[in-house]
Amino acid sequence: MLEIDKIRNNFPILNQTVNNKPLIYLDNGATTQKPKQVIEIIEKMYSEYNSNIHRGVHFLSNKSTEIYENARNIVKDFINAEKREEIIFTKGTTDAINLVAFSFGEKFIHENDEIIVAETEHHSNIVPWQMLCESKKAVLKVISADKNGELQLDEYKKILNKNTKMVAVAHVANSIGIINPIQEIIDEAHKIGAKVLIDGAQSIQHKNIDVQELNCDFFVFSGHKMYAETGIGVLYGKKGLLEEMPPYQGGGDMIKSVSFEKTEFAGLPLKFEAGTSNYVAAISMGEAINFINSVGIENIEKYETELLKYAEEKLSSIDGLTIYGKSKHKTSAISFLLNGIHHYDTGMIIDKLGIAVRTGAHCAEPTMKHFGITGTVRASFAIYNTKEEVDKLIEGINKVKMMLG
Ligand code: ALA
Repeated sequence: MLEIDKIRNNFPILNQTVNNKPLIYLDNGATTQKPKQVIEIIEKMYSEYNSNIHRGVHFLSNKSTEIYENARNIVKDFINAEKREEIIFTKGTTDAINLVAFSFGEKFIHENDEIIVAETEHHSNIVPWQMLCESKKAVLKVISADKNGELQLDEYKKILNKNTKMVAVAHVANSIGIINPIQEIIDEAHKIGAKVLIDGAQSIQHKNIDVQELNCDFFVFSGHKMYAETGIGVLYGKKGLLEEMPPYQGGGDMIKSVSFEKTEFAGLPLKFEAGTSNYVAAISMGEAINFINSVGIENIEKYETELLKYAEEKLSSIDGLTIYGKSKHKTSAISFLLNGIHHYDTGMIIDKLGIAVRTGAHCAEPTMKHFGITGTVRASFAIYNTKEEVDKLIEGINKVKMMLG
């Protein structure tokens, strides 16, 4: 049995009032709050160890390099990568997808090749591939979703063909919380020799990820959605593939030697980490994983699944409320609308009650178009949320109905 009160006490920001009401933070899909140990490690880095990594012989530089590289080991173990060189620190999920689109694309995508994404993707997993298709005269194809927002695997199998070189899909659709059938997607793509990138931005904090078991070629995620600082993310890639891919950016740290005649690049992982990495944020990510491990990712998954089920039952019982994204396979986010009431108005009123939700298209305009709407209200959960908070959300929604319905 998890002691949620104890966990909550570990998140200082939760202990405040907003608009004179206790804060209820249900916008975790956008970013999670940070536990004390993450805040403390950032303070410790700047008050005790700060120095640029990989660049000095002096004590502080060695110390911060050691802590940074240890964070890489922590990430490696967390997702069960085979080798530490397979973990590349990036600015975030978007940066990691752009890295792969640019670098893998440069080497492996040619005219008439095909790239597949899903209809329910975040813009970050659409636009970089569109840009690549434009520059290489390649073709972007889309796995359509059914009326509930579930990806249609039959349609996927039909569009897969010998020209398909890359399949890029989200593990969890950020706007509606549906868990996509990534294992089938990966296995089918591999049958025809295509590579697969999984956007794990909305799954890494909720589910156990084993990249070797999944056998995906790339897996990307952000630190700030998993209790770490902003400005840090991870690209996991299979070593052989990363070795074949050209650097994404040039600069310091990614070279072995530089002369005006010829520059030799560093090996993995530094080949893809040009410039001073956001090493403090990377270290905070290591500490955030320590936090997750202390609770246990399986415990988190179980607790959050129960909370989601509770919230879905409660929301479903409200007259005139429609949930978008209906599936048995969901995690930690519910999108909904009240009949005849704009999502923005719902969000504004419940904010006055101290409840933070996200409203709008959630950087997923094609998903909204699929449902024939302009946006939703999205409540998204983390390990510190409770059933009592869901009850308050329901009270808030009923108040909105009374005022505007
Ligand atoms: N991608 C983030 C979200 O889904 C910002 O809210």
